[in-house]
Amino acid sequence: KEYDFILAEKKGKVALLTLNRPKALNALCNGIIQDLIDATTAIAADDTVGAIVLTGSTKAFAAGADIKEMKDKSFVQAFSSNMFAEWGHIARVTKPIVAAVNGYALGGGCELMMMADIVIAGENAKFGQPEITLGVIPGCGGTQRLVRAIGKSKAMELVLTGGMIDALQAERDGLVSKVVPAEKTVDVALEMATKIASYSLPVAAAAKETVNAAFELNLAEGLRFERRIFHSLFALQDQKEGMAAFVEKRKPTFTNT
Ligand code: HXC
Repeated sequence: KEYDFILAEKKGKVALLTLNRPKALNALCNGIIQDLIDATTAIAADDTVGAIVLTGSTKAFAAGADIKEMKDKSFVQAFSSNMFAEWGHIARVTKPIVAAVNGYALGGGCELMMMADIVIAGENAKFGQPEITLGVIPGCGGTQRLVRAIGKSKAMELVLTGGMIDALQAERDGLVSKVVPAEKTVDVALEMATKIASYSLPVAAAAKETVNAAFELNLAEGLRFERRIFHSLFALQDQKEGMAAFVEKRKPTFTNT
């Protein structure tokens, strides 16, 4: 399908979504977010897609929420429309998302990235939460997911100074999982997503949901949830197939059932 602000392609079992507002450094206007919501909703219904790669341009993954679009909003408009609540849709996508980040991932761009499950960064990537320089604070996870990703002191530094960190720093801090040459970012992400998509789709979704539960639950509840989800997977044909294939020394054929 064609979208105004993103490109949606299929690469085997992987959906590649490219933020495509390069002149505005992929500033995340309402239209981009709506396109992402529509595309991920279509992907959710498509059994042939097992994972998603989300990327931007060489210069910017996304330079934040669209400042021009929000600058004149009143408190009442922001509050009554629950501005930015709809971005939560991306965090609720059940299929694994690998973000491939080149250039700037700032403000809402960094927050959108943190809604992905794995981040591959190009050497030229830069991350930050510059909202304080605009007289606001992060509004889509920058004070919450960032702390969980890199800890209090490092998150506070980014949120309070509005400064940026580079890709290697982000890797050391645990914000991203790998740094690769910028021209390889999308390929490495596609390769990883293809591997993920080769497994049983309901199992990958269960793994994602269970890891994400670690951000919401205390340890005892998290372990209990993990164990119960683990038990439930014995209802799947794919569990029987995966374990039978191991014992029979052959490759499993998963059917998502
Ligand atoms: C709207 C933006 C934009 C943004 C860049 N542009 N970022 N438009 N919203 N967030 C536009 C510029 O206005 C300009 O268009 C064009 O993109 C190119 O940007 P330049 O600034 O000319 O590029 P450069 O000099 O290379 O600087 C790159 C940059 C800078 C350092 C990334 O653009 C920048 O500081 N951007 C804002 C970053 C930021 O503060 N993000 C947080 C946003 S607040 P024109 O037409 O003017 O030439 C936020 C809140 C999140 O995200 C809350 C919850 C979601």
